[in-house]
Amino acid sequence: ATAYLNGEFLPLGQAKVSVLDRGFLFGDGVYEVIPVYGGYFFRLTLHLQRLEQSLEAVHLQNPLPENQWQKILQELIAYNKGLDQAVYLQVTRGTAVRNHAFPDRVEPTVFAMSNPLEPLSAELRAKGVSAVTREDIRWKCCHIKSIALLANVLLRQEAIDVGAQEAILLHEERLTEGAASNVFIVREGVLATPPKGSFLLSGVTRDLILELAKENGIPCQERVISAQELTQADEIWLTSSTREIVPVTRIDGIQVGNGTPGLLWQQMDRLYQTYKT
Ligand code: PDD
Repeated sequence: ATAYLNGEFLPLGQAKVSVLDRGFLFGDGVYEVIPVYGGYFFRLTLHLQRLEQSLEAVHLQNPLPENQWQKILQELIAYNKGLDQAVYLQVTRGTAVRNHAFPDRVEPTVFAMSNPLEPLSAELRAKGVSAVTREDIRWKCCHIKSIALLANVLLRQEAIDVGAQEAILLHEERLTEGAASNVFIVREGVLATPPKGSFLLSGVTRDLILELAKENGIPCQERVISAQELTQADEIWLTSSTREIVPVTRIDGIQVGNGTPGLLWQQMDRLYQTYKT
């Protein structure tokens, strides 16, 4: 696989950064994950806009103008021509003597790589996935797509350890999001997802689902969702750029709805697949 690092394309295995990189020492950086279908970026401009917002939130200057990002990322995906891909990019504050305070005059580290993007397996599409609820132990700036993901990693692993695929997070008995996904619920034909703010990442997939719901007359609300509403929902979905829309059919070991992917999920998945092409 080919990677981009600080102005160069090189084999991924040869891409190296210093142990003094602030991404390594402090998790001091931000990232994006962008899907590529049939050789085309999906909603690239929106991902680059969110990158800009994350950079601004951590007081980093965007190292590249948007057209340069586009050029570099296009060149990167050309190495895997024809394949569906997930492009990962990250910007860290750069390499400097370890000190919490920002260093003076340091170049950010700019890195990107592309991995094959596997569609959700036929089995999971048919059966759905299981999820567990957990207390949202993360920090108070979850709108920033920070590379500091220790809490997300621990929460996801807790789900895996009990045979589930995702941890759905609750802050003061209210739904926030998944460890690496946004969450929607369906109750009596009405779609709902928690409102934007510092409790969750403003997902590009989440926004598209809200758009598709509006265009297709599916009632949809952005509102506070209680833990009780979550566990009593007819349908629960997880959304992300890499997994698209995933139906959750068990939560904390209990069946969601009738225990199979719901009708509204089927409809939204069709709308999403049509939009993609
Ligand atoms: N994660 N919330 C969190 C905490 C996430 O990490 C992600 C995506 C999302 C969904 O955002 P989007 O629809 O823009 O992908 C929500 C990526 C895929 C990752 O970390 O690999």
